[in-house]
Amino acid sequence: MSASLREPIARAPEILRSPRLDRARLDAILAAVLARIDDNLAVFTDAFPAPSSEGGVYPAIDNIEWTNGFWTGMLWLAFEASGEARYRAAAERQVRSFKHRIDHRINVDHHDLGFLYSLSCVAAWKVTGDACARDAAIQAADALLDRFLPTAGIIQAWGDLSNPAEAGRMIIDCNLNLPLLYWAAEVTGDREYAKAANRHIDQAARHIVRPDASTFHTFFMDPATGAPLRGTTHQGFSDSSCWARGQAWGVSGFPLVHRYNADPALIDTAARLANYFLNRLPDDLICCWDLVFTDDSQPRDSSAAAIAACGLLELARALPLGDPDRATYEAAALAMVETLGQHYLLPEGPPGTGVLAHAVYHMPKGVGVDEACLWGDYFFLEALVRLTRVWEPYW
Ligand code: GLY
Repeated sequence: MSASLREPIARAPEILRSPRLDRARLDAILAAVLARIDDNLAVFTDAFPAPSSEGGVYPAIDNIEWTNGFWTGMLWLAFEASGEARYRAAAERQVRSFKHRIDHRINVDHHDLGFLYSLSCVAAWKVTGDACARDAAIQAADALLDRFLPTAGIIQAWGDLSNPAEAGRMIIDCNLNLPLLYWAAEVTGDREYAKAANRHIDQAARHIVRPDASTFHTFFMDPATGAPLRGTTHQGFSDSSCWARGQAWGVSGFPLVHRYNADPALIDTAARLANYFLNRLPDDLICCWDLVFTDDSQPRDSSAAAIAACGLLELARALPLGDPDRATYEAAALAMVETLGQHYLLPEGPPGTGVLAHAVYHMPKGVGVDEACLWGDYFFLEALVRLTRVWEPYW
């Protein structure tokens, strides 16, 4: 098998023929998401939604999870989309909570600092110029850089760095944590952040991406020698299958990193991953939780579809106009957003009700199966914002 297989997109003609969303319809879906945020604002200003819902309703939690930034990111998106001061006021209260969290090192012993701080504090800095938020985000980037293992050339995903069970493990999700390092390099002028991110993304492309353009969820490197050891799954069906959300993290993360380092190989990699993803979708283009499943026998993961929609738009933006798949990526992203907006929105419910139904958090553990997942709600809103205005990513 070629080491750089880019499958043709089998359903490209059908995807290109799919009806285009019109602006009025996009605005109506966006208004529905903003209305859901309004319903939840009172509960989730001094508290945060849990990672996944229970019966469609998010329990309230403190700022302790890897997912808290998605809600704050939704508030910033809502503020940018509407100009309404109530979203900014709530987001700013939460930014103070993120400063407290990094000052006191509360549950930050993992690599998800990009998810947490890009969408809360980097967003605050970009949208309002909040210097305290910038400082908190730089502190978070420092904590992320502390997880860089120089010999292996990777950022270790989980666990204390002295924990042998987690030593040398990188995961595909980390692609979305790297923009925090590039951003820190830009605002501080210190290239060490960017050098670590460059090493990690190269290792991810080399070892997490398989020759057929599917991905391992996680991959172990030997931290002492730098030797690649083995790929395993954590949330997917099996070590050899392709966890749908992991593939979506790849489709979105490689092009986001390309924004910072302009390496064309990242766009080529993202296109290969995108085609693998698009070729393993059920009829309505909303993936099952693992791409080994392509029919209604298994739960969908709407959150992976929302991430992939943003990734396809980011990828299309980076590709030359003449790329044969560029239009298909845009059409597929639109079709996914349309389907999510028409068939996957949770109906109105009590305060705390999520946005997107039918996501899966952790199938092997049976956590958050067929529920709303907070990152799915975030990326659905990000996709709507990308499709309706010129928007500077918080990543
Ligand atoms: N980054 C963890 C997840 O996607 O579930």
